[in-house]
This record gives sequence, C-alpha cells and structure tokens, in this order.
Amino acid sequence: MPRKKVRLTRRKHSGTPSHCIRDANTRLARQLHNAALKYNSSVPALKDCKVVMSQVNLTLGRLYQNIEVSNMRTIIKRPRVLSLFDGISSGLVALNQLGIIPHSYYSSEIDADCIKLQRFNHPGKVTQLGNICNLDYEKLKELGTIDLLFAGSPCNDLSVVNCRRKGLLGKDGTGPLFFEFVRILYYFKNLANMEGRDHDFFWFFENTCAMEVETKNTISRFLGCQPLKVCASSFVPMKRKRYFWTNLPVDQDQIINHHLLPVDDIVEHAKLQDFLLGSGRKAQTDVLPTFTSNKLNMVKNGMFPVVDDQDGEGHVHLSEIESLFGLPSFYTAGPDMPLHSRKRMLAKCWDVHSVKFLMNSLISLLAVKTCASA
Ligand SMILES: C[S@@+](CC[C@H](N)C(=O)[O-])C[C@H]1O[C@@H](n2cnc3c(N)ncnc32)[C@H](O)[C@@H]1O
Repeated sequence: MPRKKVRLTRRKHSGTPSHCIRDANTRLARQLHNAALKYNSSVPALKDCKVVMSQVNLTLGRLYQNIEVSNMRTIIKRPRVLSLFDGISSGLVALNQLGIIPHSYYSSEIDADCIKLQRFNHPGKVTQLGNICNLDYEKLKELGTIDLLFAGSPCNDLSVVNCRRKGLLGKDGTGPLFFEFVRILYYFKNLANMEGRDHDFFWFFENTCAMEVETKNTISRFLGCQPLKVCASSFVPMKRKRYFWTNLPVDQDQIINHHLLPVDDIVEHAKLQDFLLGSGRKAQTDVLPTFTSNKLNMVKNGMFPVVDDQDGEGHVHLSEIESLFGLPSFYTAGPDMPLHSRKRMLAKCWDVHSVKFLMNSLISLLAVKTCASA
C-alpha cells in the first residue's frame, strides 16, 4: 500500500521582528501561567498561541522546569508503565513504534483472549496483574514507582449506543470500574508527590465520545481536567472518536493543527481504498465508519463500506482493519484466534496513532528541555 509522507510545516522563523517574538512570548508565558494555575500546574494549555515553535518550547521548558532532563530521559527511554484495562496491549505497540522500550509493562486485564494475545505478541514483556479490583494497596506498593499510567475502562455501560446502559454508577455494570482507575491514579499521584516527583508522572484515561454530557462532566470532575477529543481520522481514513483526559503536555489546538504527529503516521489524503488489499475490492466510502464487531453497524446510507467481487458486500478484512488501527498485520490472529474473537477485541481497541500522538508530546518536551538545559 503506498504511504505518502507529509512534511510538517513549521512556522517561519525568518522575517519575524524580534520585538514581536518577545511580546508574543510574554503573552504566551502569561497564558501558560494562568492555565497552569487553573489546572493546578499539571496541564498547560497552549490555546491561541500564535508564536514560533521555539518560543513555545522555551516557555514549556520553563513550565516543566521541575522535571530533570535525566528524569525525562528515563521516562521516555525506559518508562515503568502500568496499563489498566489493557486489552491487547495496544499501548505497548504505540510505545514500541515510537522507539520506547519500557523497563516494565504491567497490565491489568481479565479477558482470556486478550491475555493470550499479550503473551503471544510480547513474550516475556508484559507482567499480568489480573483484575483491577484486586489491585489493593499492598499490590500497588509492590509495583514501586510508575512513570506512565494508561487506562481505558469498558464503555458498554457509558455509551449512548447501548440503550440498556447502566451508567457510571450502575450496580452490576462496568461503569463503576472508572472509580477503580481514579483510586489507582490518586495512589500514584500521591506517591509521586511524596517522592518530590509530582511533575514527572504522566497519565491518560480514554473513553468513548458517545457518552452523555453528564457522564463526561462527572469523569472530568474526578480527574480534574476536561478531555481532549481525538479522532483516528486525523491520521488514517477511519472514524474513531475518543475522549482522552490527560496531564500530558498536549492540547486540542495541536490536534486540530496536526502538531506533534510523528511524520510517518500522516498519510496524505489517504482513502479507505488505499488500505484495501488484493484486487477486485472497491471501497464504497472514503473513510471507514467506526469499526464495531457488528458488520451491520457499519452500513452508512444503506451502503456497506466495501464491495468485493467474490465475497459480495461489506467485507473489510481484519488485516486491513489492523493496518488502519496502526497495529502490525495479523496482530490479533495469535496462534489460533477465532475470527469472532479477533473482531471483538479490535472493536474495543485503541487506535495506535492516537496514543502515539499523545506520547509524542512527551518526546517533544524532552527535546525542548534538552535544548533549554544545553
Ligand atoms: C475498552 S477495552 C480496552 C481495550 C484496550 N485499551 C486495547 O487497546 O485493547 C476495556 C478492557 O477492560 C477489560 N476489563 C473489564 N473488566 C476488567 C477488570 N475488572 N479488570 C481489568 N480489566 C477489565 C476488558 O476485558 C477490556 O479488554
């Protein structure tokens, strides 16, 4: 499949009068300072920053001055990662694709098929911790320091698509699992605080955008910030809108303007047709609708996404879906995974591009800090 690289356009340095830069930088510093105060120093907002990148970087460097460059390097080169509701470890795939090889990767997951794939795809690299509800104080203490905390709790009881959803508090539903994440987030936040490392513990929590506003607001209240909205269609011809609550140094403006994307991940003007393998297969749409395990859910305006000379309508191969998700081909096949299990796991999986995008903000920050400290 042809993948065209796109050059990120940087704002021009030349020709900008120095007093403009100075003024813009002062304004930016003020904005960042206010944002930092608002978000309790943890989430810098870069909204409305119309200055050259180096000026943004210098200010970011100052905002994060409490993080030692050496700590940042450790976090990025050999992070200790805890991934809750880890599924098929797509978080680990994203890190590896960015060249990040974790020192430890702890995974909390209960689905037997997911655990099978974790073992098959990452032999000896993932430490299974089992049910999140059993991660009590003693077990968390045994893990020691954590640098990166990832989580995406089940969305079936939060999504408006499910008319029988039980909501965030629903008894016997999966909604309350969110609070298990909050419990663990605050444990590691407090630990980082006690160790004087309150600025170098990074986390994100992901969930569907198809949730009620009230649910979103409750989650935001517990996590102390508003979510970013990231759609896989910023990177590949596939819809997958997700909310990410995070303290990573990234904001909505950077998503809209494609800042911080790893260059290899942007496929210029790619269409679904470019991702179809084999001949005789014709995409009926440019962008694949949100992938669910139910093929009928993907019918838009009475049309299936693909017409196949041999199979008829609607068949998008799982290896094509994997490729759209940014996963290696046959990642979900494992040694002997049945098709329905592969579909089920892919339907709830993160798209790797979005996670890489978020993580790349940290890599940029290290570059900034390294420059600033040089
Ligand atoms: C939305 S999926 C997350 C998928 C994952 N981010 C990925 O990319 O594959 C939620 C996951 O939480 C898992 N889960 C549900 N209850 C759990 C529990 N009590 N402890 C740990 N994991 C659980 C499910 O099996 C499912 O794989």
